[in-house]
Amino acid sequence: MTKATPADFDWSDLGFAYHDLPYRFRAVYRNGQWEPGEITEDSQIQMSEAAAALHYGQQVFEGMKAYRRADGGVNIFRPDRNAARMRQSAERLVMPGYPEDDFVDAVKVVVKANQDFVPPYGSGATLYIRPFLVGTGAVVGVKPADEYVFSIYVTPVGAYYKGGLTPTAYVTSPYDRAAHGGTGRAKVGGNYAASMLPGQNAHAAGYSDVVYLDSRLHENIEELGSANFFGITKDNRFLTPKSPSILPSITKYSLLELAEEAGMVTEETTISIYDLDQFEEAGAMGTAAVISPVGSITHNDKKHVFYSETEVGPKTQALYDRLMAIQFGDQPGPAGWAVDV
Ligand code: PLP
Ligand code: COI
Repeated sequence: MTKATPADFDWSDLGFAYHDLPYRFRAVYRNGQWEPGEITEDSQIQMSEAAAALHYGQQVFEGMKAYRRADGGVNIFRPDRNAARMRQSAERLVMPGYPEDDFVDAVKVVVKANQDFVPPYGSGATLYIRPFLVGTGAVVGVKPADEYVFSIYVTPVGAYYKGGLTPTAYVTSPYDRAAHGGTGRAKVGGNYAASMLPGQNAHAAGYSDVVYLDSRLHENIEELGSANFFGITKDNRFLTPKSPSILPSITKYSLLELAEEAGMVTEETTISIYDLDQFEEAGAMGTAAVISPVGSITHNDKKHVFYSETEVGPKTQALYDRLMAIQFGDQPGPAGWAVDV
């Protein structure tokens, strides 16, 4: 397969797409242990037709980014958190976790190997990092595989939600993404498979993404298809849903701290879809989404508009600016957040 070269990219006009870059990291688990991993040029993975990942969805993944600093260096953001979350996701699917320190080292090695593809400072683009762990061993009955592959590929990306910092419209769905005691807390492909039909329906109707409601009452906001949700109240409280079936977003936990730093009171709490009037501003937060303002949510054909359908609110903008400044190395953040590659 033809590999991408840096000259192939218009850094200021990148979508959110896969490109076959020169290098990826690959490690194999067999005979009860992880073998030493290595950088490879091979973007294809060979596995048994009976691989547990192919039939029973035994696979987990992560999403991170590398950011080009003004001094030409490269940052990654809180990689220890992704390493820990991947291990927790793996535990939920009875998979061997990849050692957390080795995970962080491997991310650095892959980013360094592909460093010419980290978009320039100021372009707004980043290098998306996708670590993943798949059950490659053959099984017929429903049980864990005995062989696994851990791999990390990278690809340059621009904004995930088309508008970037322009608000977009969201809609609820009769479908659920994750059950109350299901796998919503884990970053497993099955959650995303479950979101494809509702996501497609939402896109066809002109919305950016789905707002999932809790699976028991269909009343409380869970999260969006690819990001956690936040709302900022008129009295300066930063609220985000508390639920056992949403992804523990690293961006969310970071913004909870940055919102406090900005003088807001923060809380993870129940947020009813019928109580949106309390919010002055609302947004999506995640690695891919960064902070994307939620202009409106439509539920049962009723549209609720937050700050504006066309302009980002000032508090959302300020949080976005602070987060980006830390990630791109323009401002120092809390210890351990920006990690030099
Ligand atoms: N929720 C879902 C469903 C996601 O896919 C993501 C993206 O990773 C997030 C939330 C945000 O998580 P994070 O901030 O760790 O990227
Ligand atoms: C991320 O933000 O990293 C995600 O995983 C979201 C989506 C691309 C699946």
